[in-house]
Amino acid sequence: MTAGARAAPEPERVRTMFDGIAGRYDLMNNIISAGRHHRWRQLAADAAAIGPGMSALDVCCGTGEMAFALADRVGPTGRVFGVDFSRRMLEIARQKAIRQGAAVQFSLGDASQLELEPDAFDACTVGFGVRNIPGLAGVFAEMNRVVRPGGRVVCLEITRPIRPPFRQFYRIWFDGVVPALGRIVSRHESAYSYLPASVRRFPAAAELAAIMREAGLQQVGYRLLAGGIIALHWGKAT
Ligand SMILES: C[S@@+](CC[C@H](N)C(=O)[O-])C[C@H]1O[C@@H](n2cnc3c(N)ncnc32)[C@H](O)[C@@H]1O
Repeated sequence: MTAGARAAPEPERVRTMFDGIAGRYDLMNNIISAGRHHRWRQLAADAAAIGPGMSALDVCCGTGEMAFALADRVGPTGRVFGVDFSRRMLEIARQKAIRQGAAVQFSLGDASQLELEPDAFDACTVGFGVRNIPGLAGVFAEMNRVVRPGGRVVCLEITRPIRPPFRQFYRIWFDGVVPALGRIVSRHESAYSYLPASVRRFPAAAELAAIMREAGLQQVGYRLLAGGIIALHWGKAT
């Protein structure tokens, strides 16, 4: 999970940043979410509504955690692809796939311009990824394009809680503690100050649902997790 102002930063800056923190990314996720991110990904994989023999794509796949959750659901007769534009994040994902015996194919690619055929998958997910990409509607339109009509598009993201005490907790934890921890653990000066800044400019859950509808998705729904710190959105491809 991990940049300021209203517009997302340049893709090249984002890519270099993720290359720089790849080796410590999983450890930082465990620390900043107290291990809860595994559960959130399981819920996102459930929302993809896939089963044995089906196919799924995870964009901005990073170190592969969401793709592995999808692979568990489609089983050995299904197929799962992971796409990311950071070579280092993909290297780690591939190493983990070998260690875990997970049949996931990881490829280098840009989520806003997927080099994949239309209707190629039963579902497409993105976890903590869209926040980093300029042109949110375009990313969801791409996800919609590569999923067959009726298949699910799912998004898991960090959002800003509006109710106390989570609002205060969020401010102390994400705006204060996480950037400091990130400098120590990831040994990267700015990546984890980028995190709260990127969440600040990211649309609220209802606004994100509207963007997904604009991108052509139907029956868009969402639920808030962890006291409103995490938003899980889904919609049906057309
Ligand atoms: C915060 S990480 C999330 C990784 C993973 N999905 C997870 O749940 O842990 C964001 C990932 O998105 C990738 N990313 C950002 N912009 C991208 C783009 N335009 N195309 C492909 N990958 C992108 C980064 O390289 C990084 O691996």
